[in-house]
Amino acid sequence: MTIQIPRGTQDILPGQVEAWQWIEEKTRDICQKYQYKEIRTPIFEQTELFQRGVGESTDIVQKEMYTFKDRGDRSLTLRPEGTAPVVRSFVENKLYGQPNQPVKLYYVGPMFRYERPQAGRYRQFVQFGVEALGSQDPAIDAEVIALAMEVYKSLGLKRLKVVINSLGDPTSRKAHREALIQHFKPKINEFCLDCQNRLERNPLRILDCKKDRDHELIKNAPSILTFLNEESTQYFEKVKDYLQLLQIDFEVDATLVRGLDYYNHTAFEIMSEAEGFGAITTLCGGGRYNGLVEQFGGPSAPGIGFALSMERLLAAMKAEGIELPINEHLDCYIVALGEEAKDYSVALLQQLRQAGFSAERDYISRKLKAQFKAAERMQAAYTAILGEDELKAGTITVKKMENGEQTVLSLNNFIEAFTELCK
Ligand code: HAM
Repeated sequence: MTIQIPRGTQDILPGQVEAWQWIEEKTRDICQKYQYKEIRTPIFEQTELFQRGVGESTDIVQKEMYTFKDRGDRSLTLRPEGTAPVVRSFVENKLYGQPNQPVKLYYVGPMFRYERPQAGRYRQFVQFGVEALGSQDPAIDAEVIALAMEVYKSLGLKRLKVVINSLGDPTSRKAHREALIQHFKPKINEFCLDCQNRLERNPLRILDCKKDRDHELIKNAPSILTFLNEESTQYFEKVKDYLQLLQIDFEVDATLVRGLDYYNHTAFEIMSEAEGFGAITTLCGGGRYNGLVEQFGGPSAPGIGFALSMERLLAAMKAEGIELPINEHLDCYIVALGEEAKDYSVALLQQLRQAGFSAERDYISRKLKAQFKAAERMQAAYTAILGEDELKAGTITVKKMENGEQTVLSLNNFIEAFTELCK
C-alpha cells in the first residue's frame, strides 16, 4: 500500500510555495514598520501550558490537541496556537524586564488542531500572529487591528469585514456570566451535551455553539455590552474612537465571544465577504488577554494580539481573483554541446552564480533542441551557447530569449561582458 499524506495536512509544492514566501516577506516588512520583532518558540510544549492558558473547557483543549507522552513519560502537546507559548516565553525569559516596553512580538509557524478537515480548516496550518505585551493603552488594540488589516490590504484584499466586541473586565464578565446561567438554566436540556456541560463551567461558550446556534435562547441571550462597567465601557469606546481615527470600518457584534478562554475587553475577527469563499469566513481572530501573564507567574503585563492563517488568507485571495506578481525567472541557461564544452560549462556556471546570477545547465544529456526547450520552460532571460567551435575560438554566443538577438562574447572576460549585456 502506498503511504499518503495525513488527513487535514498539505504539501506545499514548488510553484505554490512562492506565494507563501511572498506573503511571509510582506508580513515581515509590515511587522518591521510597526516594530514587532520575531519570536520562535518550540513546536511542542508541556500539555499543561494549553490546558491552563487556552482553558480546560475550550474545544481546543477538550478535543483538538495532539497530545502524546515522550519517552520520559512527560505529557507534551503540539502547539494548537501561539499566544500561550509566547506568554510562557515572555515570563520565562523575563522579557518584561527589557527597557523597551511594550514588548511587541510576531511569529509565523505551523499549529496543530485535530479538527474535522474541510475547506479552510486543516489539522496542520500556518499562523502568522502578533502579541503586544505590557500595555493597556487602547491605541495598541487599534494598532494590532490596523496591522492585520494592512497585511490583507497590502495583498490586494478588499472584501473584508472587521467585527469587534468587548468582553469586559473580570467584574463585568462575572455579572454577565451569572445572567447567562440564569437565562439558559431553565431550558438547558434542549441544548447539546457540550452546552449542558458548559452551563456552569463557561456559559459564554454556549453563544459560540455550532450545533445550537439557531436556538431561540441563543438569539436573545443577554448581551455582554449591557453588563460592561464604566471602566470597560470607556475602554471599548476609546478602541472604537481610535479605529475610526485610523479609518478602519468595523461592526460591533455583541455575540462575538471567540473560542479561547483568555480573552477580556477587546475581541475581534476579520472576515472575508468575497463571494464563493465558503462556509468558514473568519480569516483572523484576536483580542486582549489581561491577566494571562500573571497566570503564568509573571508580573502584571496586559496583552493583546491576533493570529491569522496563511491557508485562509490564500483562499480569500483566490476568491477575490488576486494573483501575486511572482517572477521566478532564470538569468542564464548554458547550452553546451560536446564533452569538452560540457566540462567547461561546469566552471562557467559556477562563475555566473558567484557573480550573483541565477544560472542553470543541462544535467540529463539533452540534445540541443531539448536544452533550448528547457531554457524556455525555466524562463531564462538569456541562453549562453557553447559548442566545440566556440571553445576553440575562445568565444560564447549569448542569445536574448525575448527577441532572439545574439551576441558573441569572449570567454576570457565572459562574466564582465555578460554583466554589461544584462544592464
Ligand atoms: P483562533 O481564533 O483559534 O485564535 O485562530 C486564529 C486564526 O487561525 C483563525 O481566524 C483562522 O484564520 C486560523 N485557524 C484556526 N484554526 C484553523 C484551522 N484548523 N485551519 C486553518 N486555519 C485555522 C488563536 O489562535 C489565538 N491565539 C489568536 C490570538 C493571538 N489572540 C490573541 N493573540
